[in-house]
Amino acid sequence: MERTNVIERAKEHFAGILKTQLERLERIRSEEGWVDYATLKPIVVGILGGDGIGPHITNEAVRVLEVLLKEEIESGKIEFRTIDGLTIERRVEVMKPIPDEVLAEIKKCQVLLKGPTTTPKKGDPWPNIESANVAMRKELDLFANVRPVRVPKEGIDWIFFRENTEDVYALGSDGIEVTPEMAIDFKLTTRPGSERIARLAFEHAKKVKKTRVTAVTKANVVKTTDGMFLHTFYDVAKEYPDIQADDWFIDIMTAKLVDTKRRTDFQVLVLPNLYGDILTDEAAEFQGGVGTAGSANIGKRYAMFEAIHGSAPRMVQEGRAQYADPASMIRASAMMLQHIGYSELAEKLEMALDICGQFEKKLIITGRSTGVTGREYCDYILKTMADPNLKSRWEACQKA
Ligand code: IPM
Ligand code: MG
Repeated sequence: MERTNVIERAKEHFAGILKTQLERLERIRSEEGWVDYATLKPIVVGILGGDGIGPHITNEAVRVLEVLLKEEIESGKIEFRTIDGLTIERRVEVMKPIPDEVLAEIKKCQVLLKGPTTTPKKGDPWPNIESANVAMRKELDLFANVRPVRVPKEGIDWIFFRENTEDVYALGSDGIEVTPEMAIDFKLTTRPGSERIARLAFEHAKKVKKTRVTAVTKANVVKTTDGMFLHTFYDVAKEYPDIQADDWFIDIMTAKLVDTKRRTDFQVLVLPNLYGDILTDEAAEFQGGVGTAGSANIGKRYAMFEAIHGSAPRMVQEGRAQYADPASMIRASAMMLQHIGYSELAEKLEMALDICGQFEKKLIITGRSTGVTGREYCDYILKTMADPNLKSRWEACQKA
């Protein structure tokens, strides 16, 4: 193609992107306030098993929730609804990240518990459709990806507020191969988008009496978008004079997380999407791996809770799905309980998860037949949770 044609085609593509993104910006500006779960009856919780090991670990999490929420389910305050069809097979069949009928069902719920879904990348046997996760975060405007990592023994108590709808993710499937030898992707940052994630991080810090919020960017190099994220962060920080605000670049932050002398100083971290994706995997590793970490995707109207890891198709191919660690989905369930107003139940569940996964470790999950199955592990958590001395047992573990 002639050079002018190449440029014209690219300009047209870019104009389309700008149009959609300016419309989105307007939507964020005019969005309504937060849903109030206390006034909802029922709170409808959609259960999406996902792909690969997803249905296995999601089932275990649901088992735990059904025990904890027995009364609420019986009284009609909470309703669980299974939503089928968010599988890679069905998504490929309709060539959509979320099939329409699934999306319609999802939108009838207020809260979702979702197993991992397979995300094809270029070169995989699946066609290169957009990630279901990314599509759902965008579609339901789940702008905050909240990922706590705690390793009490090592003094680690972090919570990451990863922006979830912008950055390179927003247009990750809208890049352009300008010529067969030149590809361009787009990175997007908006001021209201940066503001709402920063505000959520500071509000959280204020609520749980944390004293420091740290932004992580690469604003020294990626000046315009990361620059806007960082400036907005400091603008929001002015509204919280009692909380220390500082910022680090992603490269040195990645290094500092392995620095045992410095890492315990970090408390609340707020980051653009991609840095948040990477740093939270690293952070989860200190806690026992991505299999142990849950993630909350929060928006003003909807909220979705999931594991931070993928669907592990290899485990299924090798016949090991029953050995997958359900702790990530159970952690995610605890976050869900917390979010919809059942903090006491959430704390109970978290204590049981800590005892089983970090202290007592009576049963070990290895992902293979050398360890216990996810079902056995879940039984261990349920049994621990039912112990009337749970709290003192947990406190004893903290001191030991
Ligand atoms: C995560 C995952 C997803 C992401 C993938 C599956 C698209 O890694 O939730 O961190 O990159 O956000
Ligand atoms: Mg990730």
